[in-house]
Amino acid sequence: METIFSGIQPSGSLTLGNYLGAMKQFVNLQSAYNCYFCIVDEHAITVPQDRLKLRENIRSLAALYLASGINHEEATLFIQSEVPAHTQLGWIMQTQCYIGELERMTQFKDKSNGKEAVSSALLTYPPLMAADILLYNANLVPVGNDQKQHLELTRDLAERFNRKYNDIFTIPNIKVPDVGARIMSLQDPTRKMSKSDDNQKATVYMLDEPKRIEKKIKSAVTDSEGIIRFDPEEKPGISNLMTILASCTNQTLNQVELNYQGVGYGPFKQDVANAVIEVLTPIQERYHDMINSQALDDILDHGAEKANLVANRTLAKAKKAIGLGRVKK
Ligand code: AMP
Ligand code: TRP
Repeated sequence: METIFSGIQPSGSLTLGNYLGAMKQFVNLQSAYNCYFCIVDEHAITVPQDRLKLRENIRSLAALYLASGINHEEATLFIQSEVPAHTQLGWIMQTQCYIGELERMTQFKDKSNGKEAVSSALLTYPPLMAADILLYNANLVPVGNDQKQHLELTRDLAERFNRKYNDIFTIPNIKVPDVGARIMSLQDPTRKMSKSDDNQKATVYMLDEPKRIEKKIKSAVTDSEGIIRFDPEEKPGISNLMTILASCTNQTLNQVELNYQGVGYGPFKQDVANAVIEVLTPIQERYHDMINSQALDDILDHGAEKANLVANRTLAKAKKAIGLGRVKK
């Protein structure tokens, strides 16, 4: 069975973009692969975090993974900082990575743009992400579109390491969903929907109440043409809502376009809102059952134990290949 690894940062409330771009894929793929799903808290601290809020977000993200349908008997769910091999291999991967490669990363440019104090970890984030993936010999990494560049760098670093030392690492492939790989902001549909948008109306959060979801979708920016057709260049707002509807109802964009010929934006938006609410409501119910349970801790304990076992094995191989430590006489 091939292996999947993916991670989400506990850096705020999860969005509909996270769900449709990442989690939904995880749930669909989990029974066909040996899966590792990670709460990448060490990535989250590359930008300032409030310690109590971070703790809360870590637990909340774990509960959301399970509420979304991750089955802990099939997949391994764990917290990155509970598996020390990640930062250890992360350091080794930094030695294989050039500063120029890191400075070219668009996520680094976006997150550092205009900021006075930028942590060096924000720059060196991709080698840690490479380590996350390589520790488990992942064949496939399901992510949203915005992670493509990081995945390409991961592949380059793994190939570079394998060539220089020993063939230790599996070269991972990226998997983005056909529909929903890049959900856009409801208020500025030329930008990605993001956890950290200052405008609350721009983002549907996975834990938003139905009324709020409806309100946000109804006030989404569209255009004045009055025709529902998929054209991300000319009609980014409508195209984004079509993507959301298609993904939530498991239809193609073509089907959505056909179904909404001659329908006005008002009723269309209502259907989009209903579809989103229908997807998120059962997740929210399971979330509330899960969040304060002992079962959640047991699952994370068990996940960390299993992840440590696998990760330490790969780390030992990488250390040996590169000549770290000693051979006992
Ligand atoms: P992050 O919240 O940055 O840790 O992202 C976690 C996962 O969600 C990654 O696979 C991202 O590519 C995906 N993701 C985040 N925002 C979006 C979005 N607006 N549309 C689609 N996927 C997204
Ligand atoms: N960089 C990813 C993001 O911001 C999160 C992440 C960290 C990740 N390590 C990973 C995703 C490994 C996939 C695989 O969304």
